[in-house]
Amino acid sequence: MTTQFPAGFYWGTATASFQIEGATQEDGRGESIWDRFASVPNNILTGETGDPACDSYHRYGDDIAIMQELGVNAYRFSVAWPRVIPDGDGKVNPAGLDYYERLVDALLTAGITPFITLYHWDLPQALQDKGGWASRDTVASFVRYAEIVVTRLGDRVTHWITHNEPWCISILSHELGAHAPGLRDRKVALQVAHNVLISHGMAVPVIRSSCPGSEVGIVLNFEPGYPATSSPADAYATALHDARYNRWFLDPIAGRGYPKIGWDAYAGDVPGVLPGDMETIAAPIDFLGVNYYTRKICHDPGASRGYPIVNRRNPINVMGRGWEVAPQALQALLTWIHHDYALPKLYVTENGATYDDVVWEGRVHDLARLDYIKQHVAVLPGLIAGGAPICGYFCWSLMDNFEWATGTRDRFGLAYTDFATQQRTLKDSGHWYGRLTRANALIE
Ligand code: FCB
Repeated sequence: MTTQFPAGFYWGTATASFQIEGATQEDGRGESIWDRFASVPNNILTGETGDPACDSYHRYGDDIAIMQELGVNAYRFSVAWPRVIPDGDGKVNPAGLDYYERLVDALLTAGITPFITLYHWDLPQALQDKGGWASRDTVASFVRYAEIVVTRLGDRVTHWITHNEPWCISILSHELGAHAPGLRDRKVALQVAHNVLISHGMAVPVIRSSCPGSEVGIVLNFEPGYPATSSPADAYATALHDARYNRWFLDPIAGRGYPKIGWDAYAGDVPGVLPGDMETIAAPIDFLGVNYYTRKICHDPGASRGYPIVNRRNPINVMGRGWEVAPQALQALLTWIHHDYALPKLYVTENGATYDDVVWEGRVHDLARLDYIKQHVAVLPGLIAGGAPICGYFCWSLMDNFEWATGTRDRFGLAYTDFATQQRTLKDSGHWYGRLTRANALIE
């Protein structure tokens, strides 16, 4: 069995601005939809806000020190739009751009390649007040924002991601109401999905021309569906889940339009599509970022508007969130994307696990997380040997952070964050990850 990774393989960790930065009122940053959402009682399980999160706005040097312990050669982070353009489409705030320039320079000095996500969910609240992603105007605002950031950092940063997880931006946030802005309207959610995809397609050529020679892509989240039984109803539920969750975003980007089974099932809720939209969305990308945590067992949806009911097949092998640990599904997912979509490059841009960590004598013996990462990384060499262009793996996350609606309860870090003192402590999984990145080969 191949255990070696190719030379130049990117080993990284990933974070997002709102989850780590804190300093939400500092240096001219505008309000984001997450500031607003987190300020509403009961939206965040722990009652926390994005302040101080990991205080990375001030402590990014500590973060980079951890990355050096981890031996990573890449770091995926996001830029907070409201730091750069506080009201979303108006004046640029130089202090915001200066912060990301300092961060990028410090990363480069440490020999770490930045992968920048332009949108990881913190929309300026001022744009939400004008309709947010449901409005086409936000598309133009995003493209302008992207151009401003890329123009400033493009002499140093060559890996650009337009969006993180359009499914979460649209469905989770506008239909299921779980994330900001907390709406519950399927029709709006599908228009949001469409507008986000258009903004991606419009930004791709703009980023390329502002930063020639760069790699530009998008990050999608996948939950491969598996039928609960061999009944025709469960087969349909699985196909429908796959269409709505996975292919709804990948197919248009790959130039195939929206999947028919999903389009038919959404019926009157489908988005308004203008002439040229689908061509815009299908702008060629240099890479696809694949986020993978778990698979979904699909059961007959019953009610036509409902989502497939989910059963977890193996109740023991689950992480703290109840997500099944299923590395074989990552293998199948990457095989499917490789064979069916033939994209130039693939990165695993997020993969990781949350468990209840315990600090004991200054150590965190997070064997379950270590094992999770080990099992998932282990599927990669065989795929690469088989020709899949997988060029990097980013563990979610560098350190425990503000995990959206569950606040700091759900810890995903390779480093433990003590939120009272902001002390970061490498967990056993982090020590192991450091050996992995240095070996550039599977290790015990
Ligand atoms: C993904 C998000 C990331 C983090 C992980 C656990 O959906 O992109 O910000 O919350 O889940």
